[in-house]
Amino acid sequence: MTDEPQLFETLFTTRAMRRLKADPVPRALIERILEAGRAAPSGGNAQAWGFLVIEDPDVKAKVQAFYQRAYDERAGPHYAAQLAALAPGDAREKLQRQMRAVEHLTRHFHEAPVWIVACLEAPRGGGPGLGASIYPAVQNMLLAARGLGLGATLTSRHMLYGEAVDAIFGLPKSVCSFAILPIGYPQGRFGPVARRPLSEVTHRDRWGQPYF
Ligand SMILES: Cc1cc2nc3c(=O)[nH]c(=O)nc-3n(C[C@H](O)[C@H](O)[C@H](O)COP(=O)(O)O)c2cc1C
Repeated sequence: MTDEPQLFETLFTTRAMRRLKADPVPRALIERILEAGRAAPSGGNAQAWGFLVIEDPDVKAKVQAFYQRAYDERAGPHYAAQLAALAPGDAREKLQRQMRAVEHLTRHFHEAPVWIVACLEAPRGGGPGLGASIYPAVQNMLLAARGLGLGATLTSRHMLYGEAVDAIFGLPKSVCSFAILPIGYPQGRFGPVARRPLSEVTHRDRWGQPYF
């Protein structure tokens, strides 16, 4: 317990961990992650959520095929266009690194030892935007995974084929999956997040007036 990082260290080092080891994750740790998800707020405290823990290689492989397809058809070309628009330099290298990591996770998606699929009662076809009452739970679970030394990534790309994927998960018609979290021990190290500075994104009283 005492080795666990403190809250703010956890916040500032919880990143998309796309390179994972295949080593199994103890069930006790998955339970703690789920407990963190359960603690999250939801609109009206409705808790219309469900958490699906997937270890079955067959289920993961079937879903990976859709995740890969969505990359080939949508995310991959999007990254390629972004890259083509960038002159050589730091920003381009950073995006290239991210793209390599995204490609890696896409290819090895099903090899993560465990997935937590975050589901919510919601109308089908609305996309991630309807997930306001599930993403707080997702973020809690990402933080909990980090706190336990596990890597994870919030992924939602499968939603491009949401209906087909949710059928593989056996979800009832009234329930949609909003995120798949592939979880495992990280291959690399946890590093600090890189984000736009507060001075760029914070305003005082009226939009456009600097806070800092
Ligand atoms: C709504 C949402 C959907 C996302 N979907 C995916 C996804 O399908 N695949 C993926 O590799 N990362 C996905 N991400 C992760 C983001 O790309 C990642 O959080 C962002 O690039 C910051 O990465 P970092 O925390 O490592 O700096 C998603 C993040 C959010 C918030």
